[in-house]
Amino acid sequence: MPNAHSTDTVTGRDPSGADWWREAVVYQVYPRSFADGNGDGIGDLRGVLSHLDHLVELGVDAVWFSPFYPSALTDGGYDVDDYRDVDPAIGTLEEFDEVVRRLGEAGIKVVIDIVANHSSDRHAWFREALAAGRGSRARERYVFREGRGENGELPPSDWPAFFGGPAWTRVADGQWYLHLFTPHQPDWNWADAEVRADFLRTLRFWADRGVAGFRVDAAMCLTKDLSEPLPDWDDVLPGFPALVGGADGRGEGVLFGEGQNPIYDRDDVQEVYAEWRALFDSYEPPRFAVAEAWVAAHRRARYASPRSLGQVFNFDLLLASWDATAFGEVIRQNLGLAEASGSSSTWVLSNHDMPRHATRLAADPVNGTDPAGGTLDAPPPPGGTGLDRARAASMLILALPGSAYLYQGEELGLPEVSLPREVAQDPVTGKEDAAVPSRDGCRVPLPWNTQAPFFGFSEHAAHLPQPTWFGDLSVALQSGDPGSTLSLYRRALRIRRQLRTEGPVTWLDLGPRLVAFTRGARWTSVTNFGDTPAYLPPGDVLLSSRPLVDGMLPADSTAWLRNPASPA
Ligand code: NOJ
Ligand code: CA
Repeated sequence: MPNAHSTDTVTGRDPSGADWWREAVVYQVYPRSFADGNGDGIGDLRGVLSHLDHLVELGVDAVWFSPFYPSALTDGGYDVDDYRDVDPAIGTLEEFDEVVRRLGEAGIKVVIDIVANHSSDRHAWFREALAAGRGSRARERYVFREGRGENGELPPSDWPAFFGGPAWTRVADGQWYLHLFTPHQPDWNWADAEVRADFLRTLRFWADRGVAGFRVDAAMCLTKDLSEPLPDWDDVLPGFPALVGGADGRGEGVLFGEGQNPIYDRDDVQEVYAEWRALFDSYEPPRFAVAEAWVAAHRRARYASPRSLGQVFNFDLLLASWDATAFGEVIRQNLGLAEASGSSSTWVLSNHDMPRHATRLAADPVNGTDPAGGTLDAPPPPGGTGLDRARAASMLILALPGSAYLYQGEELGLPEVSLPREVAQDPVTGKEDAAVPSRDGCRVPLPWNTQAPFFGFSEHAAHLPQPTWFGDLSVALQSGDPGSTLSLYRRALRIRRQLRTEGPVTWLDLGPRLVAFTRGARWTSVTNFGDTPAYLPPGDVLLSSRPLVDGMLPADSTAWLRNPASPA
């Protein structure tokens, strides 16, 4: 029987089909910084509802919401008090349902964040565990241990926390609990049946509300080696004191171990996801999931397998410098990995954890120069290459097979903002042994209107201050400007709707400074990483991230062409 859902007239695809996520454009909303609907300076679901037109006009397939659950915000909402509710500062469950319904009416799916490695220390079960004391059933849901040393005054193992310091904190009665992130984020004990069952209940709760999929936070961390005595990190992986990095900067190689790391990317975490997969597949269409798994590239397939979460983030472009060889290698490798895993590839240039790519890509690692973002009073210095490169890189990933994950504000070309220490919210700010630098600079609330107070984000000062010059990048201003970054994204996404069914990538060798490929028989994408204009192959130019110069592709830009031999 023909499917009752409407098909996309351009692509012939059924957007309601089970495979919608394979070639999707997913737009990440960081709710507290998107739009404020009630004037308290904190972004919320009313704010989302009042800007649905922005998402529709942009042409995204899905919206991924970073956590909106009740939270003390010690880690931007990734410290969850209650997994089955909405923070009152962000809205209500009824408003959430309205968001799902109204986005759904516009053909846009909702993906939510599942933070399964840890709860917050305000979660009812953690409070119960503290009150119940050592040896109690309540403490088994988390990881409580006696300390080492004569009086238990030393942490139970040498495990490090990602956000600095040891992964253990001592409680009043002398026991220690495990937290791979901040002390306000106690790790769940995934060997505990009740914990597992409770997460299944949470996944069902949201899937039943119409959520199409889940972004699984810290997916590589859930299970730990809890055999006694606890294995020290340094015994298992001697000489690897850091949690992230690696010789090639991509976490490649043995840094994270091959499943033997006591706290990270363990093989048995897949048992958890096999259970989740069975739940996802009991829905029609099956619920989708993407793993946030910072693991060696060759181990990603475990998470991307159709028996596991089904898709995994490839963060390699977050760590790549602006260089044709670096980008080309990342793309080749990830297309191959995705195919081998039976999933589709993913492309990410910005998210809420990394400096925005309009700033990051201006870095010059060869000469050691830092990219200049903006400050509260001054925009990035004129003449920088960051925005040009960001626009080129965005068009490049949008031309590739797979899913493109966009982060709110990148469609405006927002740069990273360096904020004064006094306004910092991110717990890693100033922590030298943290695995990431402060992330507040990419979480500054969006500018909607140039003239309005607080640039239309709120009627009151935003929870993180906006720079004085943010209005120059507002949605309203850019909407009317055909040369704006917003217009470029809108056009690129429209063209991509056709492009994404065109077929696989065939590489074109146009010289060492260019990354160029065709999709199927009709489309060509060319990116110029060099500093002088480059010749383009024959074809009609559909879109370019910078205006062509005498028919040539300028430095730091991408063009899409329709091949001359193709049918009209
Ligand atoms: C990854 C999230 O993206 C990040 O924002 C968060 O701090 C950690 N996981 C801990 O949940
Ligand atoms: Ca609000």
